Amino acid sequence: MMITILILVLFAGLTAAADIPLGSTLYASDPNSKWVSSDNTFTFTFFNDPTSATTVAAIAYGNITIWKGGGPSVSVNSSAILRLLQSGDLQLLPSSTSSSPVWSSGTSNLGVVAAALENSGNFVLKNSSGAAVWSTFDHPVDTIVPTQQLNANQTLVSGIYTFKMRENGNLTLTWNKSIEYYNSGLNSTMNSNLTKPVLSILPIGIVTLSDPSLAAPLDLAYASDYAQEGDIFWFLKLDNDGNLRIYSSARGSGTSTVRWAALSDQCQVFGYCGNMGICSYNDSSPVCGCPSQNFDLIDPKDSRKGCKRKLELRDCPGNETMLELDHAKFLTFFPELSSQVFYGGIDPCRQLCLVGPCTVSTSLSDGSGICFLKLSDFVSGYQSPALPSTSFVKVCGPVIPNPAAASASGGTSKTLKVTAWIVVLVVLVTVLGLIVVEGGLWWMFFRNSPRFGGFSAQYTLLEYASGAPVQFSYKELNKATKGFKEKLGAGGFGAVYRGVLANRTVVAVKQLEGIEQGEKQFRMEVATISSTHHLNLVRLIGFCSEGRHRLLVYEFMRNSSLDNFLFTSVEQSGKHLDWEYRYKIALGTAKGITYLHEECRDCIVHCDIKPENILLDENYTAKVSDFGLAKLVNPKDHRYRTLTSVRGTRGYLAPEWLANLPITSKSDVYSYGMVLLEIVSGRRNFDVSEETHHKKFSLWAYEVYEMGNFAEIVDKRLFSHEMDMEQVLRAIEVSFWCIQEQPSQRPMMGKVVQMLEGIVEIDRPPIPKAATEGSIVGQSVTGSGSISGTSTYAAPFPVPSSSSSHQPAGILSPVSGKHGDLASSSLLHSEIK
Ligand SMILES: *[C@@H]1O[C@H](CO)[C@@H](O)[C@H](O)[C@H]1NC(C)=O
Ligand SMILES: *[C@@H]1O[C@H](CO)[C@@H](O)[C@H](O)[C@H]1NC(C)=O
Ligand SMILES: *[C@@H]1O[C@H](CO)[C@@H](O)[C@H](O)[C@H]1NC(C)=O
Ligand SMILES: *[C@@H]1O[C@H](CO)[C@@H](O)[C@H](O)[C@H]1NC(C)=O
Ligand SMILES: *[C@@H]1O[C@H](CO)[C@@H](O)[C@H](O)[C@H]1NC(C)=O
Ligand SMILES: *[C@@H]1O[C@H](CO)[C@@H](O)[C@H](O)[C@H]1NC(C)=O
Ligand SMILES: *[C@@H]1O[C@H](CO)[C@@H](O)[C@H](O)[C@H]1NC(C)=O
Ligand SMILES: *[C@@H]1O[C@H](CO)[C@@H](O)[C@H](O)[C@H]1NC(C)=O
Ligand SMILES: *[C@@H]1O[C@H](CO)[C@@H](O)[C@H](O)[C@H]1NC(C)=O
Ligand SMILES: *[C@@H]1O[C@H](CO)[C@@H](O)[C@H](O)[C@H]1NC(C)=O
Repeated sequence: MMITILILVLFAGLTAAADIPLGSTLYASDPNSKWVSSDNTFTFTFFNDPTSATTVAAIAYGNITIWKGGGPSVSVNSSAILRLLQSGDLQLLPSSTSSSPVWSSGTSNLGVVAAALENSGNFVLKNSSGAAVWSTFDHPVDTIVPTQQLNANQTLVSGIYTFKMRENGNLTLTWNKSIEYYNSGLNSTMNSNLTKPVLSILPIGIVTLSDPSLAAPLDLAYASDYAQEGDIFWFLKLDNDGNLRIYSSARGSGTSTVRWAALSDQCQVFGYCGNMGICSYNDSSPVCGCPSQNFDLIDPKDSRKGCKRKLELRDCPGNETMLELDHAKFLTFFPELSSQVFYGGIDPCRQLCLVGPCTVSTSLSDGSGICFLKLSDFVSGYQSPALPSTSFVKVCGPVIPNPAAASASGGTSKTLKVTAWIVVLVVLVTVLGLIVVEGGLWWMFFRNSPRFGGFSAQYTLLEYASGAPVQFSYKELNKATKGFKEKLGAGGFGAVYRGVLANRTVVAVKQLEGIEQGEKQFRMEVATISSTHHLNLVRLIGFCSEGRHRLLVYEFMRNSSLDNFLFTSVEQSGKHLDWEYRYKIALGTAKGITYLHEECRDCIVHCDIKPENILLDENYTAKVSDFGLAKLVNPKDHRYRTLTSVRGTRGYLAPEWLANLPITSKSDVYSYGMVLLEIVSGRRNFDVSEETHHKKFSLWAYEVYEMGNFAEIVDKRLFSHEMDMEQVLRAIEVSFWCIQEQPSQRPMMGKVVQMLEGIVEIDRPPIPKAATEGSIVGQSVTGSGSISGTSTYAAPFPVPSSSSSHQPAGILSPVSGKHGDLASSSLLHSEIK
C-alpha cells in the first residue's frame, strides 16, 4: 500500500514536470525569473534570506527553503545569475558578465539535454533517455523532504554542524567535523546486518530507515503531528543551532513548526554558545552567556558567537586563578574524552587545572568521582541548577563574578509573598469589618424585629463556626449565585458557580448531577462530608436538597485549582509556583488524603484525585475538594461504575478501575502518585510528545529516572530558582511507588507523607505498570462503550498495543509499528489517497 503510494508520487513527479531547456537563466535582480514545478508547489529562484542578509539561489516550498545552490557557505549578491549552460553544466555566477562560477554542478559533457523541477521538489539534469545525470536530491544541503533519500555517504551541513547516517544506521551530529555530540541508533543486534541503509521521511511525517536486509522500514522518529489530516508538508532539517528537527508546514501558511528534535536539551549541542560560552535556560529557552565578568561577548548582538577573556592568560603569567561555577559542566564527547579524565574530588580538579596546561575543568558530583581537564582551545559550557557538577575556568585574577541574576521566579515568589500578606490583611480587615457590620445590623434590626432573618439567620457567622452544615433553599442559592451566572468550573459531579451569601461570604456552589439517591441518604452523606474537617480539605458550608435539586456550598478558594499553575505557561497565566510551594502543596494534599483514609471516623475513598480537585487558598495551602461525592453518585455497589464521575480524567485512574477489581484507598494512592509526578514535572502524566519519545510522560519519566537523569523530569521553570534536589528526588521516587500496578505494592497514604517528609527511607521503586500498559490501552480501545467513548487520551491510533513488542525498534522511536500495521489502520487510508 505504502509502496504503491510512493511509486505513484514518484511517477507523478517524473511525468508531470515541464522541461527547462539548456541556456535558461535565472536572474537575482528579477524577482519574476523562476522555475516552478508543474503543480506550483516548489519554486527555484533567488531568495533574499533576511536572517543572513544574503541572496541565495534556492528551491523552496512556498518560502521555506529546501535546497541552496552551492551549499550553505556560498553567498552572492543581487547581480548573481544561475545559468544552465549549453554544455549541460548548471552554474551560479556572481554576475552576468562573469565567467568564473562560485558554484557548478560539474555536469558538462555528460549528455545533459534538459532540466526539470519535479513535483517532489527535486531538480534534475536529464540525459536524452530521460535519466537523471545529476539531481538536487543526490546533493542535499541541510534538508530532506519526502521521497528524497539520504545514504551513508551523504551529509547534511548547516553552519559548523554536520549530520550523517552511519553505515550501521546510527544517526550522528558533529561539530566542526570533529566533535560528535550525538550518536544514536538501533540496538546492536538489529543493526549488525545493515548493508545499504537509507534514511527518508515519509509524506506523513515519519523518519524511517530502510535497508535491503530489512523486511520493512524501521521508524526512527515521528513528528508529533504525523499523519495529521490536511495539506501538510513535513521535512527533516539540520538547523544552524546544531539540532536535527522534523518540521511541518501547512500549505500556504509560510510558517513551519518544530515537531521533533534529535536533542531535547539544546544546551547539549556542542558549541551552541560558542567558545567559552555558557548555555543555560531562561524559562524554557536556551540562552548564552559568559562564565564571569572576566569575559566579554565576542559579538554583543549575537551571544551565540561565544566569549573572550578581557585579559588573555599569556598576559598575566603567575597571576592565574580559578573561577568556580556551581552546577556547571563543560561538554565532553569522544574523541576529546580519553586523555583528560581522572579520578579526584573537587579540590584536586581545581588545582590540577590551575597548574597544568588546562583551560577549564569539570568535577562531576554524580558519584563517579570523575574530573575532566580540558586542554582544547574550544570549550562549550552548560549551567543549570539540575547539573550535579562543579566547573572551574582559568582566568587572570581577580575573579569578577557575574552579577547575581535577579531570577524570575525569585521575583515571583517575593511578589507572591507580598500579595499573600496583602490578601491576609484584606481578609482580616474584611472579616473584622463584617463582624462589626453584622453586629451592628443584628443590633439594629433584630432588636426591633424578632421575625427578621427569615433566611439570613440560618447562616449567621456563628452557625458556620459550629461546623454543622447549613441548609439553604434553592431560591437563596439562586440569588447568591445571581442565577448561576459566574461559572468557576465543571467537575465530574457537576458545575461549580461563584456565589456571595447574604453575609457577604464568598462561596463556591456545586450543582450536583446524576444523584439517584433519596433525600434521607443524601443528608446522611452531607453530614459525613461536613463532619470531615482538616486543614487540607475544603470545608463544606451547607447544602440544598429540594425536589430534584441537590447542591453543595463550599468555602471559596481564591487561587483556584492546582492545574492552573502546573499546565499553563507563566506567560499565559502570570502564575508560577516555585519548588518550595509545590512541595508544600504535595505534602498538604497527601495529608488531606491521609485524613480521609486513615484518620476520620467514616473512611472515605476519594476516587477522583486530580489537579483540578486540589484547590489553593490565598496562602497556597492545598485543599482537597470533591471528597465523599463518589459515594453519593455511585452508592455502595462497586460493580456499578459510571465513568461519568471520571470523565476525561483517565490518566489518574488506577488500573483496577478498568480491570473491574475492588476500588480501595490504594486507588487514591495511585491517582495521588500521578498528581505528584505532575507537580514535579509540570506536565500531564499522560502527555505524549516528541520530548518523551512518544511515550506517556509517566512511562518516559521512569526510564529517565532509571538512567539516572531524574533532573530531566523536573519542570524546567523550576530551575530558575534554587531548589532542594534531594526533596525533588524523594517526590519522584514516592510518585513511582504510588503508581505501582499492584495495589498491594503501593504505600498507604500515611506512609507517603512520611516518605515525602524524609522520615522514612525510600527504597528504589520498581518499574510502575509497564508490563500491563499495553493491555490497559487495549482494553480502553476495545472495552465497554462508555470507556472508549470518554477516552480523550487514547493513542491516535492503536499502534503499539496490537503489535506484540513493546520494545522500541530504534531508540529514537517509541512506537515500532511496521508500516504494514500502520497502513492497515483505517485512519491512514483516509489520510493518503
Ligand atoms: C556583487 O558582487 C560582484 C562581485 O562579487 C561585484 O562586482 C558587484 O559590484 C556586487 N554588486 C552589488 C550590487 O553589490
Ligand atoms: C542516461 O543516463 C543513464 C544513467 O546514467 C544511462 O544508463 C543511459 O545510457 C544514459 N543515456 C544516454 C543516451 O546517454
Ligand atoms: C559509499 O562510498 C563507498 C566508497 O566510495 C562505496 O563503496 C559505497 O558503495 C557507497 N555507499 C553508497 C550507499 O553509495
Ligand atoms: C574547526 O576546526 C579547524 C581545524 O580542523 C580549526 O582550525 C577551527 O578553528 C575550528 N573552528 C572553531 C570554531 O574552533
Ligand atoms: C550507535 O548508537 C548507540 C546508541 O544508540 C551507541 O551505543 C553505539 O555505540 C553506536 N554505534 C556506533 C558504531 O557508533
Ligand atoms: C535489541 O532489540 C531487540 C528487539 O527489539 C531486543 O530483543 C534486544 O534485547 C535489544 N538488545 C539490546 C542490547 O538492547
Ligand atoms: C546477521 O547475520 C548473521 C550471519 O549472517 C545471522 O546469523 C544473524 O541472524 C543476522 N542477524 C539479524 C538480526 O538478522
Ligand atoms: C513566508 O510567507 C508568509 C506568508 O505567505 C509570510 O507571512 C512570512 O513572513 C514569509 N516568511 C519569510 C521568511 O519570508
Ligand atoms: C530571560 O527572560 C526574560 C523574560 O522572559 C527576559 O526579560 C530576559 O531578557 C531574558 N534574559 C536573557 C539573558 O535572555
Ligand atoms: C594579580 O591578582 C591579584 C588578585 O588576585 C590582583 O589584585 C593583582 O592586580 C594582579 N596582578 C597583576 C599584575 O595582574
